[in-house]
Amino acid sequence: MKKFLIIANWKLNGSYNFIDKNLNIIKKINNSLNYCQLSISPPYVYLNYINNLIKNTSISLTAQNVDIHLKGSFTGEISVNMLKDIGVKYVIIGHSERRIYHNEDIDLISKKFVLVKKYGLIPILCIGETAEQKKNKLTEKICINQINSILKISNIKIFNNTIIAYEPIWAIGSGKIADINEVKKIILFIKKYIFSLNKEIIKNIYFQYGGSVNFFNINHFFTKKYINGFLIGKVSLTIKDFVLLIEKIEKSLYLLNRS
Ligand code: PGA
Repeated sequence: MKKFLIIANWKLNGSYNFIDKNLNIIKKINNSLNYCQLSISPPYVYLNYINNLIKNTSISLTAQNVDIHLKGSFTGEISVNMLKDIGVKYVIIGHSERRIYHNEDIDLISKKFVLVKKYGLIPILCIGETAEQKKNKLTEKICINQINSILKISNIKIFNNTIIAYEPIWAIGSGKIADINEVKKIILFIKKYIFSLNKEIIKNIYFQYGGSVNFFNINHFFTKKYINGFLIGKVSLTIKDFVLLIEKIEKSLYLLNRS
């Protein structure tokens, strides 16, 4: 059974104080989980510290970014091998905040995805449309374009054992969550597309949703098994709310698996 992957994306937030105050609480809830697995994605500088604190637990580490170079004169960058060295498992690639505020384009994101996979970490490819693109019914096109851009420099097998996170840009941090029917539609569309290119790997791809996930709006995600995880930003920064959310997801999955 694939466990439901909950990633706490702290973005540009956190401190030693925040970690010391909250990590034991996350570790405690993690011990009670059967259906979910937790991963923490802090800013780079805290990865190593957290890695030491989560040793001997099933909590994993996710990096928020990576460079396309392996070494050399690239001031300010971090390589995939460095992430591997300090125990990172997943790397978020192409988050819309990197596309928008750091001008990361579709080609650069494709290179990062391929590199991360080739060097043995698991890339999480974030794809999704803006409100304008949604209005113009371009969601499928936008998502498939990103996948095709990766296929231009690699082949479909690169997606084996990776994660695709559907994160509508208009939903991130906005308080507006996407309708499950729309999420279902786009995930099925992507799955069908990948299946048409390779029938084997689809079962090894995780599909996550991200964008304003909170305690009050997730019920409709658990009417059927369409997604394998959430990327959670804002709520993961308030530990009380994060714990309530994890408990609710765990309970929903328990009920779903019984039905
Ligand atoms: P949010 O962020 O939960 O604050 O909308 C999600 C994300 O950016 O991955």
